[in-house]
Amino acid sequence: MTLPNIITIDGPAGSGKSSVCSALARELGYLFVDTGAFYRAVTLAAIRISVEADEAQIVELAKRSNFDISKDRYDDDVYTIWLNGEDVTSAVRSVEVEACVSQVSAMPKVREVLNEKYRQLAKRGKVIMAGRDIGTVVLPDADLKIYLDASPEVRAGRRVKQRQATGQPADYAAILANLKERDSIDSQRSVAPLRRPEDAVYLDTDDLDIEGVVSKIKQLVAAWQPRTQPNTEVE
Ligand code: DC
Repeated sequence: MTLPNIITIDGPAGSGKSSVCSALARELGYLFVDTGAFYRAVTLAAIRISVEADEAQIVELAKRSNFDISKDRYDDDVYTIWLNGEDVTSAVRSVEVEACVSQVSAMPKVREVLNEKYRQLAKRGKVIMAGRDIGTVVLPDADLKIYLDASPEVRAGRRVKQRQATGQPADYAAILANLKERDSIDSQRSVAPLRRPEDAVYLDTDDLDIEGVVSKIKQLVAAWQPRTQPNTEVE
């Protein structure tokens, strides 16, 4: 069976991209590249310099920094995010980073630098890359593109469950408001807004759990056929 070399999965915050992609990567033997985590890593690096760092400083920082993602040695579903050789997996999920990452990821020049790094990572092959603009801007020639969606209410409900499972406080109304705000920032920004690629398979996950989504995508992967080149031979 020929498998797609590059799979892109775009979708809004809370659509289940991370859980779905890590399960898929494990089951299909791909590397999962979570591009949101790298926007978070640049944001962390910027905050460490100064919370008032401007775009030019952040671009320089992004250029100079080394980012990587690797699978945990003991757990295939756990990914380590590296910033200049430091494990920043937990630090990139901090409240401080959360508060600034939308601003940093809306900076066009920062995006240019990171997009180039994402394209280099994609060259490793057998990659599932998740984000907001992967199928549209970063890897428009990807073999298989998927757009994961779910209503804000369902996404907020999932976040509440995730938080409760880890013993964190979870206020449904506040989480719903936060998701709606992030949706509008991500989809209305002028550069690389969240948009469904025209050639992506659209999956509405409102009525599906993670296993259900993973199984649908595995069916798409199994049914995938390499693009045939147009026959240019003249008879
Ligand atoms: O998916 P996430 O919550 O970890 O993403 C963090 C931020 O980065 C969020 O504000 C959206 C942004 N992002 C982006 O603009 N483009 C991507 N390809 C991935 C994430």
